[in-house]
Amino acid sequence: MTLMTDNWTPRVVGLGQCSLDILGRVGLYPELDQKAELSSLLFQGGGPVATALVTLARLGVATAMVGAIGDDEFGQHIRRELEAEQVDCTHLRKILGASSQIAFIAVDDCGHRNIFWYRGTACPELPESPLLFLPPSVEVLHLDGLHLDAALAAARLARSRGIVTVLDGGTLRTGMERLLPLIDHLVVSEKFARQYSSSSDPDIALRRLADCGAGAVTVTCGRSGSRSMTAEGQVLCQKAFAIDVVDTTGCGDVYHGGYIYGILQGWPLAVTVRFATACAALKTRALGGRTAIPRLPEVMSFLQKGGEN
Ligand SMILES: Nc1ncnc2c1ncn2[C@@H]1O[C@H](COP(=O)(O)OP(=O)(O)OP(=O)(O)O)[C@@H](O)[C@H]1O
Ligand SMILES: [Mg+2]
Repeated sequence: MTLMTDNWTPRVVGLGQCSLDILGRVGLYPELDQKAELSSLLFQGGGPVATALVTLARLGVATAMVGAIGDDEFGQHIRRELEAEQVDCTHLRKILGASSQIAFIAVDDCGHRNIFWYRGTACPELPESPLLFLPPSVEVLHLDGLHLDAALAAARLARSRGIVTVLDGGTLRTGMERLLPLIDHLVVSEKFARQYSSSSDPDIALRRLADCGAGAVTVTCGRSGSRSMTAEGQVLCQKAFAIDVVDTTGCGDVYHGGYIYGILQGWPLAVTVRFATACAALKTRALGGRTAIPRLPEVMSFLQKGGEN
C-alpha cells in the first residue's frame, strides 16, 4: 500500500464506483430477439464518482480516486484512463482474482440511453483507514454509496475535520440512509428522491431529504433541469440548457463534478447549480460519459453566451 506523502495533495477525494462503459449507438431499439447494427462503439471509463473526478480534473482541480478494480483488462483500462486525466489512483485497489464493474450502454439517435450493468466482483469493503486518503489538503469528499463502511468511516472523519461531504445518490441502496446525516451537499437523481420520500413531487422530496441535515439538497431531473433547496429552505429551479444532444450518459456524474467545482469556489448555490448544469449540457455533445466533458474556458464562454454552444 502506498503511504501518503507530503506531495500527495488532492483537493477532492472521491470514494466509490469506477466502471468500464461499453457504449454503442443504435438508430432504433430492436424488438426482443431481434438484431440492430451499431453505428459507433466506444470503450470508456465510467462510474458516478470516477466521472465526477474526471470533470474536476478537466476544470483544473487536483483529485484522487479511492475504490476498487478487478485484475482484468477492464480494470487496467479504467486505471489508465483515470491516470491520463490526471486523477490520482494511489488508492485505487486492484483486487486479485476479481472482475471489474462493466456497463453496456445502448444510446439511441435522440441521446437516450439504456444501461445494462454488471457489478463485477471487485466491490468488497475497502480495508483502508480514511486517515490514509484524507490528507490535510482535502477540501471535499465525494461519495456515491459504494463501499458503504469505508464511505461511512471517511464521512465521519471528514465531518470531524471540516471537509465538505457530497453524495451522488443514484439509487437508494440498503444502508445508504446511514450516510445521509453525514452529508453536507445531497445531490440526488429523481429516482433516489422518489425512493427516499415515497413521493414523485420533487419539492416534498427536497424537504424530506433536507430533514437529514444537509446544508443544500438538489434533485436532478434529466432534461427538465434540477431543483435545489438552500440551507434557509429556499427552493431554486434551474432549467437544463437546450443543446443538440448526442448522449446523456454520465450527465449526473458531470453535474456533480461541476457542482463540487462551485463549492471549491465558494459560490452561492444558485451560481453553483447553473455552472453544474452547463457542464452537464456540454457533456451531451458526444458519445460517452466523458468524451465531451468541457474545460473551464468552454464552460465560462457557454455561460457568458447565455447557454448557447
Ligand atoms: N437532455 C439533456 N439536455 C440538457 N441537459 C441535460 C439533459 N439530460 C440531463 N441534463 C443535465 O444533467 C443533469 C443531470 O441529469 P440526470 O438528472 O439525468 O442525472 P442522473 O439521473 O444522475 O443520471 P446519470 O447519473 O445516469 O447521468 C440535469 O439536471 C440536467 O442539467
Ligand atoms: Mg446519477
